[in-house]
Amino acid sequence: MKINKSDLNSYLENGFLVQPNLISLEEIQRLVDCLNDFSKTPKPGHVLENEGKIYRAFHGCHLYDDTYNALIRKPELLGPARQILNDDVYIHQLKVNLKQAFSGELWPWHQDYIYWRNEDKVPTNAIVSVMIFLDDITEFNGPLYFIPGSHQAGCIDSDKAIDAPEGWEGNVSSSLTYQVSESQITSLVDKGGLFSAIGKKGTAVWFDGNLVHASPQNISPFQRRIAILTYNAVSNVPLDAHIDRRPAFLNGRDRQPLVEFDLATSV
Ligand code: SIN
Ligand code: MN
Repeated sequence: MKINKSDLNSYLENGFLVQPNLISLEEIQRLVDCLNDFSKTPKPGHVLENEGKIYRAFHGCHLYDDTYNALIRKPELLGPARQILNDDVYIHQLKVNLKQAFSGELWPWHQDYIYWRNEDKVPTNAIVSVMIFLDDITEFNGPLYFIPGSHQAGCIDSDKAIDAPEGWEGNVSSSLTYQVSESQITSLVDKGGLFSAIGKKGTAVWFDGNLVHASPQNISPFQRRIAILTYNAVSNVPLDAHIDRRPAFLNGRDRQPLVEFDLATSV
């Protein structure tokens, strides 16, 4: 499975690409059905919102669940990931972000690659994420905001935020460890404008590790659940990989090239 040339050019220029209807509604339902079980079985990669009452994210679901393990091997995802990175790929990270109705908290402006570079020692930005909408996403339920073209600024160095929680928890909280400053956001938006990633469930959105993004609180009565799969090129494994800095649910240890498996045609 491949991205056509004009879509690929658009991805390279803007730093993201939206593909509506990439995943069937039956498969989305299977992915959603698992979430109830996850919330009943707490795991180290399960993260609560600040109030400590509701889940914010489930990390590393592919490590313990067959449906998510099949998802990472889907030809519709593996093909474009290999094409964009021009290499075989493995999963560096997978998460489901829940952003629940009325209470899901925000994600400040940031880039993703700085976390993989600083925390995991991933040497280059030969790494790509694909977000899959598990709900219909509108302007009301906390969509991601992108600054088109902002990936072209490269990895923007920033100091650790002083109010961010220590350790990996800061990397997934609403007070993120590495944020892009308001003055940088102003000048990037001046150049590239803003784009909000909205669409129906089953939509996939590819985005570059250096694309600057954020998302607001969800005060609507509609939940906003997404899965984000981050594929890394097998030639771009973390330096000193044996040190294994962050837990496996953030810094995947299985770095063998992924092989296709299509759950939709195997059940
Ligand atoms: C992220 O930036 O990793 C996720 C943002 C979101 O879930 O809105
Ligand atoms: Mn992010």
